[in-house]
Amino acid sequence: MSSRHTPPEPEVIDSCSPDSSSTSSPAASDTVLDVRELRVSFFTEEGEVRAVDGVSFAMKRGRILALVGESGCGKSVTSYSILRLIQKPGKIMGGKILFSPAGEGRGTRAEDGGAGQVLHSHSTPALGTPIDITALAENSDELFHLRGGQISMIFQEPMTALSPVHTVGNQICEAILLHQNLSKAEARAKAVEMLGKVGIPGPEKRIDQYPFEMSGGMRQRVVIAMALVCNPEILIADEPTTALDVTIQAQIMGLMKGLQRDLGTSTLLITHDLGVVAQLADDVAVMYLGRIVERGDVRTLMKHPKHPYTIMLLKSLPSMALNKARLPSIKGTIPSLKEMPPGCPFHPRCPFAVPGRCDIGTPPPLEDVDQDHAAACLRWREITAEEIDRADTETGSEGND
Ligand SMILES: Nc1ncnc2c1ncn2[C@@H]1O[C@H](COP(=O)(O)OP(=O)(O)O)[C@@H](O)[C@H]1O
Ligand code: SF4
Ligand SMILES: [Mg+2]
Repeated sequence: MSSRHTPPEPEVIDSCSPDSSSTSSPAASDTVLDVRELRVSFFTEEGEVRAVDGVSFAMKRGRILALVGESGCGKSVTSYSILRLIQKPGKIMGGKILFSPAGEGRGTRAEDGGAGQVLHSHSTPALGTPIDITALAENSDELFHLRGGQISMIFQEPMTALSPVHTVGNQICEAILLHQNLSKAEARAKAVEMLGKVGIPGPEKRIDQYPFEMSGGMRQRVVIAMALVCNPEILIADEPTTALDVTIQAQIMGLMKGLQRDLGTSTLLITHDLGVVAQLADDVAVMYLGRIVERGDVRTLMKHPKHPYTIMLLKSLPSMALNKARLPSIKGTIPSLKEMPPGCPFHPRCPFAVPGRCDIGTPPPLEDVDQDHAAACLRWREITAEEIDRADTETGSEGND
């Protein structure tokens, strides 16, 4: 992400490959980012809106973590918080975001594979000392190096990240020169190389084009090149393909998966689309109304979901609804964050809700279902396969968002 252009509405990605930990220092912890009890509020004329209300998740190094949920559930606000991009009337109210860089030992494999060197011009913190991003001073060097250097972000709409009045080459070179100790000629060579890697044909010529001379798909490739050119430890991709047509979406997703595999970048992938999650993610965290309601590895969550919200999202996937005339979606509308229902926030839409139990008290906490699998539902142990089969979806909508 260029530090110059701050887009109005961000979103996320996260990923890894099975053996990518081999590129990290053996001393580096498996967890690259540990978000603990994050709370973010917006102070509007109508009062405090708790957009993120006690979110905890851990990103494992070199893996893709998908943060999934319907529109408005707090995915973008969570990702903005990681880069400290929350602006007034928003504020981080509590929690920690612990970042554990792998340090200078990282990147051997990327260099071997020709993916570009990892040589940050700045010093990285000693191994084993996580940085609490929420505690960094606004104008600190640490925050500057974090944004676009150690942690990059790809936004939904490429034009929010690109300047219309500069060539794509100048913009990529600017990102390189900000964070790496290279000459202009070296930066240009690296930019050409990266444009080639993201599948832009004739990168030596394309580098001197302006964004308006490119298609939407090509522009998003440029944004991906810009995000990856400094070889960030973490890539956040906030709905990176939503603005693109379906064929281009598939190409970009394939590209991101390939790059992630080659570079071993830890990725936070934000999406409202469980189909994308199934294709790309290693781990998943499902959000509903500012909270994580279920998390686990992708296979477990897809095969053995425990939270009714995850169950209903999966039931609404097109592949699961082939025999239905129209794509189903989850019944009911998402309540406003200003009028949070008592008890379990999902109870007004939950086909398994029990009156007098699910609609009173405080939201259920995340409980361990298994190792690395947790769900925030009072009834996760009781819900039977028959109940799930009977659970109704609603027809007539284009799907979930
Ligand atoms: N600038 C803002 N002012 C007031 N409320 C906001 C603002 N940005 C986000 N919110 C609140 O935060 C919630 C979560 O937003 P967001 O993280 O963008 O959702 P999404 O999951 O679609 O990315 C919104 O539903 C809204 O209530
Ligand atoms: S606690 Fe009750 S309402 Fe909430 S998800 Fe579980 S069954 Fe549904
Ligand atoms: Mg969003």
